[in-house]
This record gives sequence, structure tokens and C-alpha cells, in this order.
Amino acid sequence: LNNGLALTPPMGWLTWERYRCITDCKKYPDECISEALIKRTADLMVSEGYLAAGYDYLGIDDCWLEKERGPDGRLVPDRERFPNGMKAVGDYIHSKGLKFGLYEDYGNLTCAGYPGVLGNEQLDIDTFVEWGVDYIKLDGCYVDEAQMDEGYPAYGKMLNQTGRPILYSCSWPAYQEDYNVKKKHIFTPDYESISRHCNLWRNWGDIDDSWSSMKEIMTWFGDNQDRFAHFAGPGNWNDPDMLLIGNFGLSVDQARVQMAVWSVLAAPLLMSTDLANMRDEFKEILLNKDIIAVNQDPMGKQGLRVFKNNQTKISVWNRQLHDGSNALAFVSEREDGSPRSYSFSFSQMQLPQNSYRVQDLYHLEDDRILKSMEDFEVRINPTGKYLHYIPISPLDKLN
Ligand code: GLA
Repeated sequence: LNNGLALTPPMGWLTWERYRCITDCKKYPDECISEALIKRTADLMVSEGYLAAGYDYLGIDDCWLEKERGPDGRLVPDRERFPNGMKAVGDYIHSKGLKFGLYEDYGNLTCAGYPGVLGNEQLDIDTFVEWGVDYIKLDGCYVDEAQMDEGYPAYGKMLNQTGRPILYSCSWPAYQEDYNVKKKHIFTPDYESISRHCNLWRNWGDIDDSWSSMKEIMTWFGDNQDRFAHFAGPGNWNDPDMLLIGNFGLSVDQARVQMAVWSVLAAPLLMSTDLANMRDEFKEILLNKDIIAVNQDPMGKQGLRVFKNNQTKISVWNRQLHDGSNALAFVSEREDGSPRSYSFSFSQMQLPQNSYRVQDLYHLEDDRILKSMEDFEVRINPTGKYLHYIPISPLDKLN
């Protein structure tokens, strides 16, 4: 969507993956979806360096609403959990230099059963503008998939007409893709139209807190990349869903895989984790400047899975960067013990023949020289990765 926003993939934090629909603040005061959680997270995004690293959107996903609209027909945030209303939350977020994200659903109800926007689109957009919302995630529960091809663009136009810059995240293709699988009816998500009308869009199912969920998403993105990867670019991004890093399900190596592959995919980097209780090794991954720079590369070209071997369970992902270099991620889905070595030819990595200086952006290995025509050897941990950034160096400098 050409609205001047998201010229590089959006970065930030969103409640859903970690906090889901926890609404009992008496039992779970630190975890319930509430003003307190949002304020605490805003403070930590600043004090712990996440904002400085680029994570600038702070978003509330589902379960922030009262079950009924107010007497004036307006959406009402939960009175106990957001006692000062949403304008106060937005003001707090803005006072920290962050931007305010909010979830709604295009249908009658949100996925968790709170009021959706259908039939009240304009009124709700007016309300969001009053609250200072900068980012709308518009989900697609409780609405006919066939209606989305017109409904999502129409909603985007209304957002645009407010004059307030509001990032527009659509779940439109995710529902159409999912419908195809579950009900065997063939929708063809129109990614050309989706990229013209949305800043980012969820293509596929929800991520859960596990390596198997993440693996499934990576496989789906690799298998289907030819249908949508080329629609990514400044203003438009495919969204494989939130980062799990810092939560319960991923090992450190698996967290490195997610950060590497999501960066090669030019994916939005939306954390969903408890920033107050973050282990240092996860924090280091989320704040890795070199890998964030790959994610935020200004050319905005999405990388591809360029190699996959079902027997060895190794894949290679390659993204071209604006300065003529490439970022490669080497992923192992093996679960048997011990790191293993693999060699790749230039054609397997889809790298132009040249000589390269190779850096490991996780700084686990020293820089190396890769000469044209040579194979490239990497040693990968079980369910691990390396992200290699491969700047092209003129040959004469290497000799
Ligand atoms: C859907 C979305 C999730 C989350 C939940 C909230 O499942 O895909 O990302 O927003 O709804 O109910």
C-alpha cells in the first residue's frame, strides 16, 4: 500500500502470541491484557533498547473490548482492564516515542468473540483516530471470505481518508488460503490487489510457541513463495506472523533460525514476549543490529528458499540486499544430535559466481573468504542455523 508507511518491514511488539486472551487480572495481574501490561511494555521497550533498535510499534491484539458496544454505538474498551480508556493508553505510548497498534476484526465478531467492525466501519475508524491509533490489524473471523476482496480495500480507503497515517495490516489472504485447505474450495488470493491495499498481510495460519509450528510456517512460505514473494517491497510485506523469541518453546538455536529466516523473508518483526523476564541470549538475538539491518534493507526485496533437501532436511534461504551483497540463512531441521557439515555450490545457493567475504552475523564464526567456483562449507547444529551475510568483494582485494 502506497501510503508512505512501512517502507521497511514494520517492527514492534504485539500481545497475542504470548498473552493471548488472558483477561483475569486478579489471578494473573502481570499477564492480563490491560493498561498495566501495555505501560510496562512501553517502558521496557524504551529502557531495554528495543525502540532504539527499531521496534517502534506497540500493539494490543484481541480481547481489549467490552462484549457490548456503548449506548452511542461506539466500541468500549474493557472498563476494568483499561480504566482510563484507550486515548490515555495511546497518549502514554506516544509519550514514550512509540506508535500505537490496535486489533479489530472485519466481521461481526473478533476471533475471541468481541464486537467486530462490520456495519460500524466509519464510526470505529473515527474512534480509532480519536484514540491516536497508528496501526490497525484487521482480522477476518466471522465474515465471508468471498466478501474480503472488496471489503478489505474499502476499509483501507476509509483509513486513508482520515488523513491520519495508519498502518494497515490485513488478514485477508490468510483466511482465503486457509479456506482452500480446509474446505477444498479454491479462492485465489489476489496478492496484487492485497499488496496495493495493505501494508502487511498475514498469509497463513497463526504461529504457536513451538519449533514445529515455526517449521510448518517456514515450509509453507518456501513451498508457496512463487505466488507472493515478489509482491513484497517498500510499503507492502508478507507476514509469517509474530516472533516467538524469548518465550517458552524455542531453544536459542531455534530462536536464531527465526530471526534469520524472518529477516531474509523481509518479514515484519513483531515480538510477543515478556520483556521484563527476558533471558540475555534471547535479547541479544532480538537486538542483533546486523540481522535487523538485513531485515530492514532499503531495497525491500524478499528473499527466497533457494535450496531444500528433504532427506538431509537442510534448506538455504537467500536475500539480495541493496548494496549488491546477499544474506543467506542455512537451516537444519534435523533433530538427531551433533552438528553436521554440508557443502553448497554456488548454484545451490543461487549466488552469482564471484569471490566473497563471508561474515556470520551471529558472530559465532570468524569472517571467511569464499572464492568463486569453490563450494561453501557450513556446520549446522541440530535444528540450528547460521546466517551468513555475504558482501561481494572485488577479486583483486582478495588476492
Ligand atoms: C486470529 C489471528 C491471531 C490473533 C487472534 C485473536 O487467530 O490470526 O493473530 O489476532 O485471532 O483472537
